[in-house]
Amino acid sequence: MSRPLLRVEGLRVEFNLARGVLRAVDGASFDVQPGEALGIVGESGSGKTMALRALVGLLPRTARIASGTVEIDGVDVTAAGEDERRELRGRTVAMIFQEPKTALNPVMRVGEQIAETPLVRLGLSRRAARTRALDLMRLVGIPDPTRRVEAYPHELSGGMRQRVMIAIALSADPKLILCDEPTTALDVTIQDQILKLLGALQRDLGVSLVFVSHDLAVIAQTCTKVAVMYAGQVVETGTVDAVFREPRHPYTLGLLRSVPDFDMVREHLSSIPGSPPDLASPPAGCRFHPRCPFVQDDCRGAPIPLIELGGVRATRCLYHERCAEDVRREPVIAGA
Ligand SMILES: Nc1ncnc2c1ncn2[C@@H]1O[C@H](COP(=O)(O)OP(=O)(O)O)[C@@H](O)[C@H]1O
Ligand SMILES: [Mg+2]
Repeated sequence: MSRPLLRVEGLRVEFNLARGVLRAVDGASFDVQPGEALGIVGESGSGKTMALRALVGLLPRTARIASGTVEIDGVDVTAAGEDERRELRGRTVAMIFQEPKTALNPVMRVGEQIAETPLVRLGLSRRAARTRALDLMRLVGIPDPTRRVEAYPHELSGGMRQRVMIAIALSADPKLILCDEPTTALDVTIQDQILKLLGALQRDLGVSLVFVSHDLAVIAQTCTKVAVMYAGQVVETGTVDAVFREPRHPYTLGLLRSVPDFDMVREHLSSIPGSPPDLASPPAGCRFHPRCPFVQDDCRGAPIPLIELGGVRATRCLYHERCAEDVRREPVIAGA
């Protein structure tokens, strides 16, 4: 296997609050090979956004990387200076956020915003940058680009604005695109179109993706590999195929069993009882133990390490066999 494009090892992100230290991300490790799409999934508040932002040094001012390594294309991001990180964000890595309205400049024509990187960073002429903007608009499926290139963001629909964001993300020819819930604000049909577009770009351009979402179906549609986050920790990793067919962590199992309109056979829907812990004072032992249907005494003691299950599969559950048995009794995915 080639060198990973992104390598994250033991990443910790902390907020210093009046009531103590809040660990938003606690020892997350994952990697992304060139051309691969990794999904990060978990409930709201599990640390997905902070993990993603930490990768490129875009944390809130009150947060900091307390420990861990982040390596992008061979560059140690945590040791890099702000200039080097900005260079990385401008060239190697691009980001697409949930709400394109706030990410776009409202008083600048979308064509100029797409042309900005080619013009400023890649040193293209005005004419060439405009041509590049039009090409990118075509690539991301914006109809009638010669007209829309002159539009302001508010003149476009939410779906079109998100396509503009994707065009901007692609404009520097990045190797890695970080997506944070890029379709959550869109209606279902448009969401589906955008996901298909991202999938096609990843396949055709060979760009790598890290895709953060609370929605398992979205991850299944766009990613080949997945990391499940719970209360700031990665609790399970593996291929999307393996993890969604045979989850080896009760949290993943609970998530899968609570998805209403996914391609699954199920006798009843169940949601996970209880709610995630306060990250300023997480429970001892396994963080999921207060909500876990399989909990045993030793789940409440020492922290649970990630247990390797072969290949890219790992789980932070001592009783992962219980999940396998549960799925044998009642499968989570149709045809599995
Ligand atoms: N600005 C902030 N100040 C204090 N705590 C925060 C802030 N942003 C996020 N957090 C904490 O970090 C945790 C992870 O947040 P986040 O990464 O945004 O979760 P997700 O993206 O999975 O919904 C949250 O549960 C919250 O406790
Ligand atoms: Mg988030």
